[in-house]
This record gives sequence, C-alpha cells and structure tokens, in this order.
Amino acid sequence: MEHKDQWSSKIGFILASAGSAIGLGAIWKLPYVTGTSGGGAFILLFVLFSLLIGLPLLLSEFIIGRSTQKDAISAYKKIAPNTKWHYIGYLGVVTCFILLSFYSVIGGWVIQYVFYGLTGQIGRGDVNYETLFNSSVSDSLLAVGGQAIFLLITIFVVAKGVQSGIEKASKFMMPTLFVLFIILIFRSLTLDNAMEGVSFFLNPDFSKLNSESILFALGQSFFLLSVGVSVMVTYASYLKRNESIIQPAVSIVGMNLFISLFAGLAIFPAVFSLGYEPTAGPGLLFIVLPSVFEQMVFGNLFLLIFLILFLFATLTSAFSLLEIVVAVVTKGKNTRNRNAWIIGILVFLVGIPSALSYGIMADISIFGKSIFDAADYLVSNILLPTGAFLISIFVSYKMKKDVLKSELINKSKFSLLFEVWYYLLRYIIPLVIIIVFLDVINII
Ligand code: PHE
Repeated sequence: MEHKDQWSSKIGFILASAGSAIGLGAIWKLPYVTGTSGGGAFILLFVLFSLLIGLPLLLSEFIIGRSTQKDAISAYKKIAPNTKWHYIGYLGVVTCFILLSFYSVIGGWVIQYVFYGLTGQIGRGDVNYETLFNSSVSDSLLAVGGQAIFLLITIFVVAKGVQSGIEKASKFMMPTLFVLFIILIFRSLTLDNAMEGVSFFLNPDFSKLNSESILFALGQSFFLLSVGVSVMVTYASYLKRNESIIQPAVSIVGMNLFISLFAGLAIFPAVFSLGYEPTAGPGLLFIVLPSVFEQMVFGNLFLLIFLILFLFATLTSAFSLLEIVVAVVTKGKNTRNRNAWIIGILVFLVGIPSALSYGIMADISIFGKSIFDAADYLVSNILLPTGAFLISIFVSYKMKKDVLKSELINKSKFSLLFEVWYYLLRYIIPLVIIIVFLDVINII
C-alpha cells in the first residue's frame, strides 16, 4: 500500500527535510566537536565531506523515497524484492531509535534553558554559566524531566501526522533562526580578540588532524544531513512523483553549511574573547552563547528568542527521527497515533541512562566512555557511516544506471554532473568510508 500522506507543497518538503537536517548537529554538536578536534582543518574536512559525500547520498535517499513512495524498509523491498537489501532500512530504524534516545537528552537541556529564559534566571549578567550548566545536566530530575517533555512534544506532533504536524511546525522558524544568528555573529565578532576565535575556527592547521578526527568529520557530515539512516527516504516518499529533488538537496546542504558556519562564527570569537576553552565539550554552546547575549542590549529577550528557535530546530530533527520508526510500523494504516506513543515511550525508557550519564550514572563507562558518549559514538561514527556505505552501494550497484539517470535528470541528456554523482557513489564514497574506518582501527 502506498502512503496517504503527502507534503502539501514543495516548500513544505524542503523545510521539513531542512528541519530534519538542521538541529543539534549544526548548532550544538559541530561547534563542540570542532573545538575538541582541532578547529579549522576539521571544519574544512567536514565541508568537503558534506559536499562530496553527504550531498550525493542525500540525492540517493531522495531517489529511493520518491520513486517508491514507501517507508524506509518497504522502499528497499520494492526496488530489490526477495533480497536482503531492505536490512538497510532496519539498520536505519534501529539507528534512529538509539539516536533519538540520546538526542532527546540534549533536547531536554534546551527545554531547561528555555525555562530559565522564561523565568528570567539567565541573561541578567550575574550568572556563572559553567556552574549553571553543570548543575542543570547533573540533576537527575531536571535531566530526565526535560527529556520527557521534549519527547512528549515530539510524540504529539508525529502522532498528528505528516501534513499538519511536521510541515506547519517547520514553516516559519528557519528564516528567523538565520536572522538571529546574523545578529549574534555581529555581536560576537565585535568583541575584543574576536579574530583569535575566527582564526581558530577557519584557519586550517592540518597537524591537528588524526585518524579519529577524520572519522568524526565524516560522521558529522552524515549526522548533520540526516543521511545514512533512510530518514530522507521516508521524507521523500511523501513527495509527488514528478517533484524535483536536485534543488531541494542542494538547498538543504547549503542551509546546513551556512548554519554550521554561523554557529561556529557566533561561538568561537566569544570563546576566545570571554576566556573560555574551545575544548569545553558538550557544554560549549550552553556556556558561551548566553554570555554573548549578555553583552547585547535586550540580551535576555534575544537569548529567550534564540533558545525557543533552537528548541524548534532540535524538535524538527527529532520529529524526523520518530517519524521514520513510526512510518515503518504504521505502513499507511491508521494506527499512527498509537504507534507514535508506544515507540516514543520506549525511546524515553532507553534514553534514561543517557540522561543520567551526566549525573548519577557518570561513573558507569562502556569502552571507556560514558553511556551518553558511547551511544553517540556508536551512532555517529559506526552506524551512520555503515548505513551511508550500504546506501551508496545499493544505489550505484543495485539500481540501473538509466533508471537513476531518468530519476535524477532527463534520460536523453548526457550530463557530466550525473556521471560525477554516479562515480562518486560507485567508487569514491564506499572507498573513502572504508579507508577512514580501517585507518581508525589501525589496519592501515
Ligand atoms: N541532522 C540532525 C541534526 O543535525 C540529526 C539527525 C540525524 C536527524 C539523522 C535525523 C537523522 O541535528
């Protein structure tokens, strides 16, 4: 059965996919991983991976979804019946489930900060943001409570269905977020010593890269674009058959890169100017940005608006993570509401240890990492690259070249760009992923 759900307009699709892509990855995670992975060289690598690997994969997922009009598992079954290729879909579903279980932890932190903003506890000029951050994330009740509220909103929207829920919520927040970032960057760049931060962020020093940071840059490029987990297959399946995908894909990658660069340019100058450490880790944004807002007129108001938009960006990514799992289970039947609640509650239960891993469970370690970090490492650096690898192989070896050509561009035309895309998928992308993997486990 094909889905009944469809995007009401092309812009709805673009905004929702961009909403999935732009979230914690660009705004919270990339800046802190850049901080701990050496700065400019890391960002440069990330940009290259996004353009040469992320974008071709995004197009691939769009093709699979739009051409089959099916959920993440059925889509592969339709293209390759009686094979095991649909395991790519299962892999995506499992990955999204785990991803959401820890994504919602950070979502919970954002909820806490929105609450602080609403009650006037931050932005007053007398707050020590390091202390505030540490006490917020280590308090079990606040951490789990924030996570629960975040997931409740996510479940509620996904339960209502694609059209009315996700699309409407995505429609107005992106442009506002862009504008706010520009204001923020302006303030950050006019602080004393701002250039030191700009240079840390944009001046590549390749001696700071090692095999692990290369893997992180690769994983980040997938994480930020939501590729490798068939989320974009699912979203494109709600697209009409004749809707184009190249322009949406390019704009999503473009917007994502812009927001990533914006976030870095807002954060790093302030890090250096206000005397913080770029290697501060997960607290970087939560500690540095409120301090920047304090240097602005009406700073507390702007801070509150920023936090609300940040929460929106985070939620639109969470919607997509829950949506793919719900879509697979629902398969166009009318059990969406019930499924969204059941799956959402399961995600919450699985995520509780991650939420507590900054507090009472901080000492529990898996392979030397906290529970949260272990889940994140598994998803970002193992499952996402594996999914991406399999999708590139599936599209370029299992699907026919002329079918792909007619899906992507006009079949009769010879297009250099099509050939480039095809060869990237067939040879370069799988090879790069394998090399990066082997390098990390020290085989080469
Ligand atoms: N792209 C989202 C972000 O950067 C995370 C995400 C990954 C969402 C994979 C869906 C699928 O925040």
